[in-house]
Amino acid sequence: RSASPASQSPFRPAPATPPPAPLASPSLHAPAVDPRDAPLVGSDGPCQGAVSHAVINPSILPAFPAIRLPRAFLFLPARPAAMADAGGGTCRAWWSRDTVAVVTGANRGIGHSVAARLAEHGLTVVLTARDGERGEAAAAPLRDRGLAVVFRRLDVSDPASVAAFAAWLRDTVGGLDILVNNAAVSFNEIDTNSVEHAETVLNTNFYGTKLLTEALLPLFRRSPATSRILNISSQLGLLNKVRNPSLRRLLLDEETLTEGKIEAMVSQFLAQVKDGTWAENGWPKVWTDYAVSKLAVNAYTRVLARRLQSGGERVSVNCFCPGFTRTDMTKGWGKRTAEEVADFGARLALLPPGELPTGTFFKWRTPQLYSKL
Ligand SMILES: NC(=O)c1ccc[n+]([C@@H]2O[C@H](COP(=O)([O-])OP(=O)(O)OC[C@H]3O[C@@H](n4cnc5c(N)ncnc54)[C@H](OP(=O)(O)O)[C@@H]3O)[C@@H](O)[C@H]2O)c1
Repeated sequence: RSASPASQSPFRPAPATPPPAPLASPSLHAPAVDPRDAPLVGSDGPCQGAVSHAVINPSILPAFPAIRLPRAFLFLPARPAAMADAGGGTCRAWWSRDTVAVVTGANRGIGHSVAARLAEHGLTVVLTARDGERGEAAAAPLRDRGLAVVFRRLDVSDPASVAAFAAWLRDTVGGLDILVNNAAVSFNEIDTNSVEHAETVLNTNFYGTKLLTEALLPLFRRSPATSRILNISSQLGLLNKVRNPSLRRLLLDEETLTEGKIEAMVSQFLAQVKDGTWAENGWPKVWTDYAVSKLAVNAYTRVLARRLQSGGERVSVNCFCPGFTRTDMTKGWGKRTAEEVADFGARLALLPPGELPTGTFFKWRTPQLYSKL
């Protein structure tokens, strides 16, 4: 597997302006070294493994008093004092400008904000979109700010587009460290439940995510800093939304669940949509086709996590549900902005290697294993 550093790749843009200042909110981001100067994990010093850019101000915690958050989730170092010891609160990030993140569906909405946030953290971001003009228009202003962002066309529902993208990434960039599977569609209004476009929804949200993930798996750098996949999913696809007992049993059986069984479940749903029997078969009640697509993404994530772990691969895979967010998908309705979601999503994607879980579902700010749901 070829893994030439991204710094040698021809697409690397020369910053038009000086590197961006550390991110705005001092409460979320401690004074930072420029991540482009920071060595990968393995650097010595008291802050080893901690990520200065990702330190969360504990003052946000009272908002979630009932939830016992694991240390990894909080990004807090084992010894908070050590952070102050290390050059006035400065710790080293595990990533650098040579760390490559690929974000799908990043021309708008949550995907665009996540791509921008990762680039602001100092990574090289491959911003992808299915439409060339819309993608380039989304990437250009980020590049104008001096961020290392390159646009590449990618339609996750098109196998030829996925294959072409994987070949380009291999030959031009050399590999990747982070994949954010964000691209998705829904054709439902907030208060409707049509399955008219079920096939497109399943092809994009589930099969597209799986197709791209499998195509890029050989290209992940197996560096000391574990590579990571973050699937932007939805709580609409959690097991507690499934009312069909045999379906619940299938999805809950950790030992026997396979990718083949997940695909069979999806085919069963699509067949029931075709013959008009889906409504009485215990599928999730809200945004049913979309919910089934995310149910499949969640289950695939769990199976893939187990597969990668048992193969000794240094690649983690987790799900993140941003919750009800104001984007085009919700026609502007929602509890939070795409930027707020991106702040948090980027921190999840950048968890310190030693504290990165796998096979976990993060529901907004609450980490939950879906096997428990
Ligand atoms: N907003 C919410 O409340 C909410 C809640 C839970 C989960 N989510 C999840 O968050 C993610 C982002 O959603 P969003 O709210 O930001 O939606 P959005 O504003 O509708 O953006 C969706 C993005 O996906 C792209 N896309 C669609 N089909 C594609 C394909 N075949 N190939 C490549 N890109 C494709 C779209 O590109 P075009 O511009 O070309 O259409 C667009 O860039 C999705 O996975 C969604 O399921 C959202």
